[in-house]
Amino acid sequence: MKNPNHKNLLSDGRHYDLLNKRVIDDIPFYIQQATKHGDPMLELACGTGRVTIPLAESGINITGIDISESMLSHAQAKTKKKKVTIEWIKADCRDFKLNEKFNLIIFPFNTIAILEDLKSVESCFLCVRNHLNDNGRFIIDFFNPQLDILTKDPNECDVIAKYSDPDGKGIIIVAESHFYDAASQISRVKNYYMIGNQKEVGVDFNMRIFYPQELDALIRYNGFTIEDKYGNYDETPFISESPKQLIVCCKSET
Ligand SMILES: C[S@@+](CC[C@H](N)C(=O)[O-])C[C@H]1O[C@@H](n2cnc3c(N)ncnc32)[C@H](O)[C@@H]1O
Repeated sequence: MKNPNHKNLLSDGRHYDLLNKRVIDDIPFYIQQATKHGDPMLELACGTGRVTIPLAESGINITGIDISESMLSHAQAKTKKKKVTIEWIKADCRDFKLNEKFNLIIFPFNTIAILEDLKSVESCFLCVRNHLNDNGRFIIDFFNPQLDILTKDPNECDVIAKYSDPDGKGIIIVAESHFYDAASQISRVKNYYMIGNQKEVGVDFNMRIFYPQELDALIRYNGFTIEDKYGNYDETPFISESPKQLIVCCKSET
């Protein structure tokens, strides 16, 4: 593939949105949670505003932080076309200080997987505590890890999306392979992009895997009390077969 930008598709907001255009089932859940717990709301690692923008459109006062300039500028450009106001802030979710506290802080779409080590988890959760009102809620959405999927042959490559290139270069096929390192609980993901018969290797990324009891313990030992743990966006209880770990927590009393 000749266009070198394709190597960075993951941080190109246009490609991110096309890759994830079918992911919308979490949005009604967050609107429902905002109805229960109120705003202002903060989204950690908001990316292109996939969640942030529809929540703002439903009347929620929401701020988004993300570490990536390019994802935020795409989010900003999308916001300009809508009748909403959203504060977009470039910040690292492991180390941020904003001039506001929130009634709801959300960490959607498995993005807690960026917290690869204990120090990152502790510093992120401390920032969340510092920015949460006393009666506020923190919501984490992470999948329920399945060992057979994690330990799949790393030489096997699965197609995860097909979409039209926003620069008009044809259909893009995105495929992934995973290598799971059980000691660090990190799944190393390799991306491949194909247009026509040309294949390009994308930027690799890591996903830290959080098992159910471990995630609950991390939340508890970092000053939060788990109020609800759902297995999916329909708020059914978390069980072994659940696709998701959807955890609603509040600050523990000190
Ligand atoms: C999978 S996307 C999720 C975007 C959005 N929350 C959603 O649900 O579509 C992950 C996002 O995390 C951001 N990110 C990665 N490391 C980060 C960090 N340390 N602090 C803040 N954002 C980070 C990336 O720039 C990217 O936009």
